[in-house]
Amino acid sequence: MADKKMWGGRFAGTTAASMEAYSESVSFDWRLYAEDIRGSQAHARMLARRGFLTDDEAGRICEGLDAVRGEIEAGRFTWKTGLEDVHMNIESRLTEIIGPLGGKLHTARSRNDQVALDFRLHVAARIAVWQERLAELVRVYLDRAKEHGDTLLPGCTHFQPAQPVSLAHHLLAYCQMFRRDHERLADCLKRVRVMPLGAAALAGTTHPVDPVMVAEDLGMDVIFANSMDAVADRDFAIEAVFAGSLIMTHLSRMCEEVIIWANPNFGYVRLPDDYSTGSSIMPQKKNPDSCEIMRGKTGRVVGALTGLLVLVKGLPMTYNRDMQEDKEPFFDTDRTVTSSLEIMTGLLAKLEFVPEKMLATVERGFLNATELADYLAARGVPFREAHHITGAAVAYAEGRGVGLEALSLDEFRRFSDLIGDDVYAVLDYRAAVRRRTSPGGTGPDSVQAQINALSAWLGSVR
Ligand code: ARG
Repeated sequence: MADKKMWGGRFAGTTAASMEAYSESVSFDWRLYAEDIRGSQAHARMLARRGFLTDDEAGRICEGLDAVRGEIEAGRFTWKTGLEDVHMNIESRLTEIIGPLGGKLHTARSRNDQVALDFRLHVAARIAVWQERLAELVRVYLDRAKEHGDTLLPGCTHFQPAQPVSLAHHLLAYCQMFRRDHERLADCLKRVRVMPLGAAALAGTTHPVDPVMVAEDLGMDVIFANSMDAVADRDFAIEAVFAGSLIMTHLSRMCEEVIIWANPNFGYVRLPDDYSTGSSIMPQKKNPDSCEIMRGKTGRVVGALTGLLVLVKGLPMTYNRDMQEDKEPFFDTDRTVTSSLEIMTGLLAKLEFVPEKMLATVERGFLNATELADYLAARGVPFREAHHITGAAVAYAEGRGVGLEALSLDEFRRFSDLIGDDVYAVLDYRAAVRRRTSPGGTGPDSVQAQINALSAWLGSVR
């Protein structure tokens, strides 16, 4: 490319074509165009307030930038890799439209603080979208939980059937995770919404800039405290990608459960056609591909987080061109998080639960054994001994091929003469759930309290 570079004053030669292709970022950072234009318009208004531009000049710059945005959004803009990045493409086109006045826009500014601003605005906007999608997902979880307050599920530890819980309680556990994800993003936003313009290249500027005015114009909360940090910091993006990784990790756990539950050996769910696929060779198959893909995509988001951490770990102060590699991992994370939340919301809304299958496992698995141990403990037997006695009763019932509740009182008495007729009410699986009234337990009151609290929270964030 023989075009004169915008920074080309001290260069006699031209950039190698391979180097130009290697170093350009506009092929991906064009996605920052809206933020770049907003930031530049705020900067121009500030320059006018400070007397550096006349109001008329600032007005012409802002209108010129509106025109550039119009071209981009109409698909009429020609992005040039020779101009390296989104910033120089937009500034160059602005200057074509409004003439040499366009060259005044970059006063008191460097691409280092400019790109930090654009990226921060972009990350903040996308976090808001993630939060909306999380809230929508929680809403659907709540709907499904309300339908299944009476559905018994074998609650597991070590992936072994442990104690009966209500399916509502299980689903609400995910609500709690996604609520925390939402709150984590709100906290992250405090550190994203820091206005870095005015740091210039790294040291600040001799021009009398007013970063507070720019921050207010852009609706950002605070301004940077240290110009070097302002252009060198990428923790805001890393933190956002971490929050995204945790969202994906939570989604992936849910995916894993749906995949297992859809296996006919479990049969706890039937997959909705809209989120499943068939096999090209085995006609009977219905595969949980949406969940498998999501579980797989979790890996790429965690990879993006790792990539960003490694990207900055060896960088000396302040801006280094390495940092241009910070955007694609974020864009990719954004695409993945946004689409995955949408898919999970759609899948969950239509997922068909099969309570009979869940109940059959509850009844097969001695999931009322803890009830018997607690029953004995309540009658003064030390819990360790009660545990032992119950274990022996389970082994006996297993030998007979029946559940504990099918043993006769005589049979129970072989294990402890403290066992009376009232044991059968205690061994009832539904009672086992109902009696877990401790705070946050699976009992109906606690489940209802969770639903109320989560509904109130949803109302407060939407
Ligand atoms: N495309 C660059 C990036 O993303 C913009 C900043 C360039 N700054 C510089 N001093 N060359 O990091």
